[in-house]
Parts: sequence; C-alpha cells; structure tokens
Amino acid sequence: MSSPMMRPADYSPALPHERIEEIFPDIFLVHGSARVGPATRLNRNMAIVRSNDELSLINPVRLSAPAESQLEKIGKVKRVLRIGYYHGVDDRYYVDRYGAEFWCQPGSDRYREPRPTHVLRDETPLPIPAAELFLFKATKFPESAILLENHGGGLITCDSLQYWTVNGFSLRMLIGTFWLKAMTPKGQSLRADFERLLKLEFKHLLGAHGRVCRNHAHEQVVAEVDRVFGS
Ligand SMILES: [Fe+2]
Repeated sequence: MSSPMMRPADYSPALPHERIEEIFPDIFLVHGSARVGPATRLNRNMAIVRSNDELSLINPVRLSAPAESQLEKIGKVKRVLRIGYYHGVDDRYYVDRYGAEFWCQPGSDRYREPRPTHVLRDETPLPIPAAELFLFKATKFPESAILLENHGGGLITCDSLQYWTVNGFSLRMLIGTFWLKAMTPKGQSLRADFERLLKLEFKHLLGAHGRVCRNHAHEQVVAEVDRVFGS
C-alpha cells in the first residue's frame, strides 16, 4: 500500500531484525537493530499492542518486506507512539505508509517529522485499553513509559530502563547510562521520577533495548534505582 506522501528515498532502510514474537496475548515484540557506526549495530526493539484489530506501534522499528506483510496480517496499523526522545527514525515511515495517527509528548522533536496528530500529556487518555501513561517530569527532554495493566503489569519503556546481558553473563536491569547523563539537568537528579515510576504495578518490562524482563521487573528496577541513586 502506497500513499501519495511516500518519499521512498527519504526513509531509513529496514535493518536486520528477528521475527515478530507474541510475548503475551495481543502484545508483540520485535528485536531489531539501529546503526550506531559504520560497522556497528545496536539492538533496538519495537513493541506492538493489538486492541480489536488495531495495532499501536511503540518505539517503531522498520521491518523487512516479509515481516511487514506479517504485521499487516496481525492487524491494522492504526497509530505510532513515540515515548522516547532519542527514538523516532522510523516513525514517519509508518505514519506515511499506513496513514497512522502519531502520538508524542510536546517538544519530542529530535526527529521533527512527523508532526503529532495527538499529544501525550498527563491528562491524555491513552488510545490503548487498560493502559496508563507515565511521564518523566525532571528530564531535560521528553520521555515517557506506558504501563499495560494486564498480565500482572507490563511496563514499556524506551531508553530509561533496559534489560541487558552484562559482560555476557546474566541479564540485568539498567537505567540507560548515556540516556541518564543526557537527560539529567545539571546539579539535579531523576531519582524522584524513578521513585514515582516504582509506584506503578508491573512484573514485566519491555524496553527499546535489551531483552524482555519477565516476572521480576519491579524488583530489578528497585535494585537498579538503589545502585544508581543510592539507597
Ligand atoms: Fe535508545
């Protein structure tokens, strides 16, 4: 499906990614990649939430043509949600291709296009059933997270919280190091934001980097907040 707005040469190409995986009923994840240097790629994830037959793409990652066909079989791409300031390279592709709505926080304009059709603020009801929006308040640039209340609570983050293999060993929850440095205003701390985030009820975490953290995400975030900010 092509729309008159398509400008193929302008879009970032699809980069290698794994298959679309249904990690919980109606919640899908794709482990993809981002180019961070001439020969270096970093893992980058997209979350997909289906309600009825509508899809919400969160932290969008462009897919290969076969995987895109699979996405279209899963549901209709209705909206794109940008929750992280530093992610957005593929947002315009999806918005143009599917005529999708585009939701983001005011000022989340590191990628200036597309323009938001809907703005994410504290009082904004999310277009996803049984979901809650969490906004970081102290960050230098807009950042948010989305809590899916089903299945014991699944928190979708962008760069703020990531679940990584550390030194090739066990997986560990991390507050994004570069993100934290870039997002913390001079002489201030994001501790209060993370303490507020910990008031949310969640067991699982789906970040834009790393793997899915199942069942023990909340306790892992508690430990990471203690490690970074002191207990
Ligand atoms: Fe990132």
